Amino acid sequence: MTKPLRILGIESSCDETAAAVVEIDDDNQLTLLSNVVASSANLHVQYGGVVPEIAARSHIESIIPVIDEAISEAHPSTKSDPWDQIDAVAVTYGAGLGGSLLVGVMTARTLAITKNKPLYGINHVEGHVYANFITAASPTLSTVYRLPSTAPKFPILALIVSGGHSQLALFRNHFDYTLLGQTQDDAVGEAFDKVAKIIGLPYPGGPSVGKKALEGDPKAFSLPKARMDGKYDFSFSGLKTAVLRQAQAMIGADYTFPSKNLAGRLSEAQKADIAAVFQRVAIETVVDKTITAYEEFSPASVVIAGGVAASPELRRQLAERLPIEIRYQDPRLCTDNGAMIAALGAFKTQLGQPTADPYSLEIQPNLSM
Ligand code: KG4
Ligand code: ZN
Repeated sequence: MTKPLRILGIESSCDETAAAVVEIDDDNQLTLLSNVVASSANLHVQYGGVVPEIAARSHIESIIPVIDEAISEAHPSTKSDPWDQIDAVAVTYGAGLGGSLLVGVMTARTLAITKNKPLYGINHVEGHVYANFITAASPTLSTVYRLPSTAPKFPILALIVSGGHSQLALFRNHFDYTLLGQTQDDAVGEAFDKVAKIIGLPYPGGPSVGKKALEGDPKAFSLPKARMDGKYDFSFSGLKTAVLRQAQAMIGADYTFPSKNLAGRLSEAQKADIAAVFQRVAIETVVDKTITAYEEFSPASVVIAGGVAASPELRRQLAERLPIEIRYQDPRLCTDNGAMIAALGAFKTQLGQPTADPYSLEIQPNLSM
């Protein structure tokens, strides 16, 4: 057995500054050695969404302390330089906010050069999928993770649902996948965030809408599901507008009533019903397509990835409707984190994928799958 490889993952595409160390062994099993996330979400709450300038500034302040903590936690011994144990650096180079990505990529490039480590550029969305391959955690970790007991098996159907992405992809093997469909407008997480804003719940909207929905009736009224030309494409902007119209109607106003004044006029019971109906329909929309794709492609495994994969309602609906058992990842590895970047970096290292040039790796804010 050869010595397992240790990969440092760096993620800064949105409002989380994150770094983690993951180990990959001969059998390609991934073990989490550290996972540090500093979020600037609290700084964006008053604006109801991420402010790119604030996010970028916050990354600059946090990135070195976050990386230091991640590599020290992975290497509790103080006798040697914790950098000695790191075999490669992986960093998100797209998609994401330009200013935010730049901080992570420039830091990773500098570290790869000064510490003399191979560098891997990681597609953020692919990284989300790879979080599902983390099946073990070091006993020295300060928090306990609830990890899936086994890694997914190819072919893998991946439902990727986050604040910036809604995609269905079929992975035949590592680095060999087909994008089946994607959102044509808003991402599902973005719809949660916008609906939260309409009914006066805090950002990020996924968890706050999910919590409010528990008090409401998911069948209180109906909302339309978008019909798309592409079999596996999504659309959520119409659903968000339908929520706005419903809220206006509930207070007896017409469509000219400003959305920013709605929250103050809705009762708590009305907000709860809106949250419950919206959540049911938004989640049903992605689950419907996942089931259709499952029936067409008969994958060996199904995984969910991205921030909305943390949703208990999504987990419940999928478990109810999928004919195979689905293993869910710890919610802290579903929202943005460095471990997912390290996980994909680990497979790239292990399987001899090309490295990035630390003198020229550029950010790609609009990188697609
Ligand atoms: O993957 P992520 O952290 O960042 C992006 O790559 O976009 O996803 C963030 C999104 C936000 O829209 C947030 O509202 C949603 O994930 N989210 C959730 C939950 N936690 C985060 N949505 C539903 N339920 C959750 N528990
Ligand atoms: Zn993400």
